[in-house]
Amino acid sequence: MCGIVGYTGGEQAKLVLFEGLRRLEYRGYDSAGVSIISPKGELNRVRVVGNLDALGSTLATAELHGTTGVGHTRWATHGAPSEENAHPHHDCKGDIAVVHNGIIENFVQLRAELQGSGHVFRSETDTETIAHLIEENYNGDLVEALRRSLKAVHGAFAIVAVHREHPGLIAAARRDSPLVLGSGEGEMFVASAVPAFLARTNRVLFLQDDEVLSVTPDGYAISTLEGETVAREPVEVEWDLDAAEKGGYEDFMLKEIDEQPRAVADTMRDKFDDSGGVYLEGLGVTAEEARRLRRIVVVACGTAFHAGLMAKYLFERWAALPVEIEIASEFRYRNLVVTSEDLVVAISQSGETMDTLAGVREAGRRGARVIGVCNTVGSMMTREVNCTIYTHAGPEIGVAATKTFTTQMTAMYLLAMLLGRLRGEVSDEKYSRVMDELKGMPDRMYEVLEDDAGVRAAAEKYHGCEDFLFLGRSVGYPIAMEGALKLKEISYIHAEGYPAGEMKHGPIALLDENVPVVAVVPRDSVYEKMISNIEEVRARGAPVLAVATAGDDEISQICEDVLRVPATMDMLYPLLTVIPLQLLAYHIAKSRGCNVDQPRNLAKTVTVE
Ligand code: F6R
Repeated sequence: MCGIVGYTGGEQAKLVLFEGLRRLEYRGYDSAGVSIISPKGELNRVRVVGNLDALGSTLATAELHGTTGVGHTRWATHGAPSEENAHPHHDCKGDIAVVHNGIIENFVQLRAELQGSGHVFRSETDTETIAHLIEENYNGDLVEALRRSLKAVHGAFAIVAVHREHPGLIAAARRDSPLVLGSGEGEMFVASAVPAFLARTNRVLFLQDDEVLSVTPDGYAISTLEGETVAREPVEVEWDLDAAEKGGYEDFMLKEIDEQPRAVADTMRDKFDDSGGVYLEGLGVTAEEARRLRRIVVVACGTAFHAGLMAKYLFERWAALPVEIEIASEFRYRNLVVTSEDLVVAISQSGETMDTLAGVREAGRRGARVIGVCNTVGSMMTREVNCTIYTHAGPEIGVAATKTFTTQMTAMYLLAMLLGRLRGEVSDEKYSRVMDELKGMPDRMYEVLEDDAGVRAAAEKYHGCEDFLFLGRSVGYPIAMEGALKLKEISYIHAEGYPAGEMKHGPIALLDENVPVVAVVPRDSVYEKMISNIEEVRARGAPVLAVATAGDDEISQICEDVLRVPATMDMLYPLLTVIPLQLLAYHIAKSRGCNVDQPRNLAKTVTVE
């Protein structure tokens, strides 16, 4: 999320930075800006709300001369999209400009300390803290000031900074957020992704975590946070520009599926306090209020609804709370008695889905406290709910939701655990066990992504089928629903997601050798029951493709094809089992020649009823 570019060379930075930002627009598009050092040694800045067209029109007439500068296109994480919150951020004196991608976890504490020593903040962002920190640490050496500042910073960052006293110098650093140097002839680029400068150079150098970069038009130096020199040469990339805009991927959807471990880690990053407890900013539910809660009501559409359906099992199990889960478009037609003793949770990646917004308003009218789970800072929903839990999935361009689903589930794990704790339903021991496992899930997700070849082979085998049945039990049931939805959306194959035990009450009549059954069957507490259902399927001659736990040999003996996920806790399996299903839908759709990023008839955000 967020695109950053720095340039120093012989050309007008305004044009080069804008061209670079254009290529990174997919990374963020709610506000943008550039800061450039003028020939007179002034630092001049232009920032606008909106996408890059808005920045382009402002830059067209702006007097912004100079050959060194930084630019940014933003995907808001802290503070609404506004001019004040747009990057670059300057220090008090307007000497230093900083652009940043990532989340500074301890920015509240750092800001308070800096304010205590007289720094005046003008935005709500975590990024502005860095500009002030550099100012505080600066005594003539920008790179050294950045290095010193970073020692105080916790979290993820890719930072690029310039100082008006150093025309021709860029200082940059990274930790857990990508940053790459583009090395040209008498000009240098620093950006969050290669496409930003690929039209000008294909000689690139990827910065590693906790490395600091010092760049001039003719050279660069890398050092560690401790100041030790690092020797590394640029390499040539063979990408064509078009492919590189998708970071080398053929489609945004595949890129977004692969981004899930990072997105889940980012979503968790700002949601723990110093003692390791779940901290959801602005939630404001006291232990007393949590104990008095009567019920949770979840409102959402489509994939977000499936995240809510999964969370129903969590709230019931961890917080001992009854849950009503409602498809948002039906919410208003029910005479659901919602009162101030109910907590309504609305889930929406866009925060603009009309049906979900209508549900939020209806719940508010009836006096309930409404929590939003949302990926889009400043969206309509975030302005209408009592509190927003942000998922930090970053921009999702593919119409079919993937990384926003796993990040929504992550947010729900945290909320359910927190409420369970507040209500005294979860012991310290259980809490630590679940949270430790949850924190390790991004690594397990990477493992699942490694078996793309297995999924590809299954897709090759089944892509000609016209009907699929997806089965699961417990938290596997919403995942079966989600798997079926993904397949329908992008491959136009008829697919149904069903609770496995319900199959014998109707859908079993559909089964024959031409209807593959996808079974979500990890080694959990409902495993034996799932095996019985799989036997029922086999008895009707339908092929079974199982998503099962690594090392489970029993399943290979009864299913035609098995896709594996690593072992985890029962309730956490959905973060893993959904990935092979997303990939299956993707590869089947590709084999059928479908446009996976823009499936027919669908819109990314549905703003009609
Ligand atoms: C499915 C999909 C849709 C959305 C639904 C809700 O892949 O993308 O089903 O999940 O339209 O959208 P948001 O989450 O923006 O409210």
